[in-house]
Amino acid sequence: MKGVLFDLDGVITDTAQLHFKAWSAVAKNDLDISLPANFENDLKGISRTDSINRILDFAGKADQFSSAEIETMLDKKNTYYLKEMDKLDNNDIFPGITNLLDQLKQAGILLSIASASKNAPAVLTKIGLIDKFDAIADPSKVAHGKPAPDIFIEAARKINLDPHECIGLEDAAAGVQSIKSANAIAVGIGNSSVLSKADKVVPSTDYLSLSLLENVYNSVK
Ligand code: BG6
Ligand code: MG
Repeated sequence: MKGVLFDLDGVITDTAQLHFKAWSAVAKNDLDISLPANFENDLKGISRTDSINRILDFAGKADQFSSAEIETMLDKKNTYYLKEMDKLDNNDIFPGITNLLDQLKQAGILLSIASASKNAPAVLTKIGLIDKFDAIADPSKVAHGKPAPDIFIEAARKINLDPHECIGLEDAAAGVQSIKSANAIAVGIGNSSVLSKADKVVPSTDYLSLSLLENVYNSVK
């Protein structure tokens, strides 16, 4: 294992929940619908545009809005998200993550971010982890969002590695699919039935360590 490719939202900090709160507010105000709690899993990992399209489908309003109206909804969602995101600090880093990053760095393993979020650098700055990563893949530079492999391939490329030399960490089914399609090894964090395509699933970030990741890597290779 030469590199670890990290998803951000829901893996490093609890911003997955903030994204869903922001979408729920837009759905309520602009579409007059309530998003059910389990819809959060459908939205995890996918881009802003893919998310609004799924929500419009769910609302049965797929063809009812102009692209300018959709753009306004996307802006509202991001404004709401940024307001919540601004409250984050280093207390919002998930348990075990700082330790894991330090262990990996000491072992000479390269660390790269493979997030779909255009806000990833801002979130990492808020929680004080931006300097711990060797690279951040830019989601606006890849052709296809998760579940396509592009962002994990780009995150590996930015640290000069082939994806098969890396483990990818994900909380989203679309993200696990993206890691596997990129030909990296997938460790899922969360519910094992949602993340069933991962090579290994742990219930939360407390379970992550250098030795766990090395064991998974060596057992799959
Ligand atoms: C992913 C989140 O990391 O980023 C999604 O899991 C989100 O919920 C996506 O929609 C895009 O984020 P942003 O910040 O660019 O709107
Ligand atoms: Mg995520």
